[in-house]
Amino acid sequence: MDHPVNGGTELRLDRVSRWFGATAALRDVSLSCAGGRFFVLLGPSGCGKSTLLRVIAGLDTQHSGHVMIGGRDVTELPPKDRGIAMVFQNYALFPHLSVAENIVFGLRARKVPRAERDRRLLRAAELLGLTQLLSRRPNQLSGGQQQRVALARAVVAEAPICLMDEPLSNLDAKLRTEMRRELRTLQRRLGITMIYVTHDQAEALSMADQVVLLNEGRVEQDSPPAELYARPASLFAASFIGTPAMSLLRLAPREDGAVIAGTNGPVVAPANAAHAILGVRPEEVSLTDGAGISAAVISAEYLGAETVLSCAVGTPAQVIQARLPGNHSLAAGTAVQLRLPRRLHLFDPATGRRLPETMQAFSPVDA
Ligand SMILES: Nc1ncnc2c1ncn2[C@@H]1O[C@H](COP(=O)(O)OP(=O)(O)OP(=O)(O)O)[C@@H](O)[C@H]1O
Ligand SMILES: [Mg+2]
Repeated sequence: MDHPVNGGTELRLDRVSRWFGATAALRDVSLSCAGGRFFVLLGPSGCGKSTLLRVIAGLDTQHSGHVMIGGRDVTELPPKDRGIAMVFQNYALFPHLSVAENIVFGLRARKVPRAERDRRLLRAAELLGLTQLLSRRPNQLSGGQQQRVALARAVVAEAPICLMDEPLSNLDAKLRTEMRRELRTLQRRLGITMIYVTHDQAEALSMADQVVLLNEGRVEQDSPPAELYARPASLFAASFIGTPAMSLLRLAPREDGAVIAGTNGPVVAPANAAHAILGVRPEEVSLTDGAGISAAVISAEYLGAETVLSCAVGTPAQVIQARLPGNHSLAAGTAVQLRLPRRLHLFDPATGRRLPETMQAFSPVDA
């Protein structure tokens, strides 16, 4: 069955679970993706991303829960009737077929008439900049061009939902960045609903309208990228997002507020947060000549435009990182004073969840 591109179709999952023996690959996963949106499934290796894509596509079957596409329960439908195109993690092209034949392979198999096939081929080739390469064999293409052929194969399906499993994983950093932009533009131009899997948080933040962060088969957070960055819902989200991710610090009570555990101050959070874990974004930490938090440099990693400083604070030592503009070649052991941001991220150590926003506003170290 062929589906016209129709501005993207809504996808909804309702409490989907999938077990492999005693291992739960997906636990009660519910999510909702509006039509025409770029939706990213993000998480570490083994968290269930590919399993979730396969369940959506109908290549794997959940043990409980429902998959709804365009308002219709497709749980009982085979993959070919779900109106979905998919690009797999390893996008193997047929080496003996030309680029053109690779692209229309699926359409041939579905007996789409010749004229229609040619029309779609030319459109996809133009969109992906492959027009000049149609008669080549895959081994005569660069890695990025091969990747584009795999994308073209999904585009010609003209399915309203496209699933992609780490489609850029084989590319070098520069090409990845280019392809991210191209894919995003393509998705907007075609108006399709994109479900895109990656374990790369920078890729997720730069491409997505909405990110679902998975952890051990569970939805950890379901937010737009800016929200995921600004208000991580859990310690897991806090430690997954950012380059480097947040520093997470134990606190201790003092009569006038909470300090970083093992230090004499200054106070960094309100007294009722003394039991909490404090999250600090390295890009919001700065060095100060005045009174700050006393720390000792562990290492300074020079990255060109900036330096990531890892420092020890308190006894026993906890690590706090600072991402500073420019080059700071500070030797290990150098004493520095750190200033923390005014915006806090406080988490409950028992549940790992973010504490209420009312507790997160505080003026810690004074300028
Ligand atoms: N066919 C299978 N048989 C047994 N266990 C499986 C099978 N497929 C997946 N798993 C398990 O289910 C969990 C989720 O696997 P999945 O492939 O979905 O992870 P992923 O998030 O895609 O990881 P990656 O980023 O490494 O591709 C893992 O613990 C994995 O070992
Ligand atoms: Mg995978």
